[in-house]
Amino acid sequence: MSAATVASIAGASTLTAKADALEDAMSDELDKRIATPWFCSIDPTPEPVAGDTRPWYQHDDPRLPKMPDAPTLIDFFKLRFAPANHVLQSARLAKVNGMDEKIVLACLLHDICVGNFIRTDHGYWCAQMVAPYVDEEVAWAIEKHQALRFFADESVGYEYPDQYIRFFGADYKPEPYIIQAWEEAKKHRWYMTSRLITLNDLYSFEEGVVVDVDDFTDIIGRHFRQPKEGLGFDGSPVAHMWRSMIWPNNFL
Ligand SMILES: [Fe+2]
Ligand SMILES: [Fe+2]
Repeated sequence: MSAATVASIAGASTLTAKADALEDAMSDELDKRIATPWFCSIDPTPEPVAGDTRPWYQHDDPRLPKMPDAPTLIDFFKLRFAPANHVLQSARLAKVNGMDEKIVLACLLHDICVGNFIRTDHGYWCAQMVAPYVDEEVAWAIEKHQALRFFADESVGYEYPDQYIRFFGADYKPEPYIIQAWEEAKKHRWYMTSRLITLNDLYSFEEGVVVDVDDFTDIIGRHFRQPKEGLGFDGSPVAHMWRSMIWPNNFL
């Protein structure tokens, strides 16, 4: 519940007004669980920033750290994705488990669109974002991990996630397109690359373990083709996706 909502309940003078305010608050809470696509997670009606009189935060948004002119993947991790615990911890786990560098990179990138850009169909979006800069196998594996998460693979000890039972109920069946993606992926020569992403996909973090993206500088350097113009400015088919995270309010 937001501070404004609490204030509006407390400030209501009659019992009926308090009940109305509470109902509004409950409906706000419900809205949060209705996961509409959110691009860049930027509030469209921000609190005014002192001294900034622009009606819209077109170009640099004063609430966000300014990005360098030619941003690298690491700049995005530090200035947009941070704290990025989920992907950093997953990549660390892959490293600890002795995975190939390509797998570590795939784990590092597998969910990077979720917190900052778009959550819906995130495997597909993340794969597209990185496709021009990584091996085809890595992008393929990232795309398929979305479907593979739903299907156990006893050969590597991957079980259906308990949290999906909590989220969706025990009798939930993924949509046909997810089932089809899994059926196809199972027969593919890169299946295990994607499966290993799901195996290192970590949701319960190790207490006290802090992972820094700088720990992956070498792996990124060897396996991510950083464009010299910077992500967002290389004219690639996905440059606009990276720019959308640099300037989330550039609608004109
Ligand atoms: Fe994911
Ligand atoms: Fe994940």
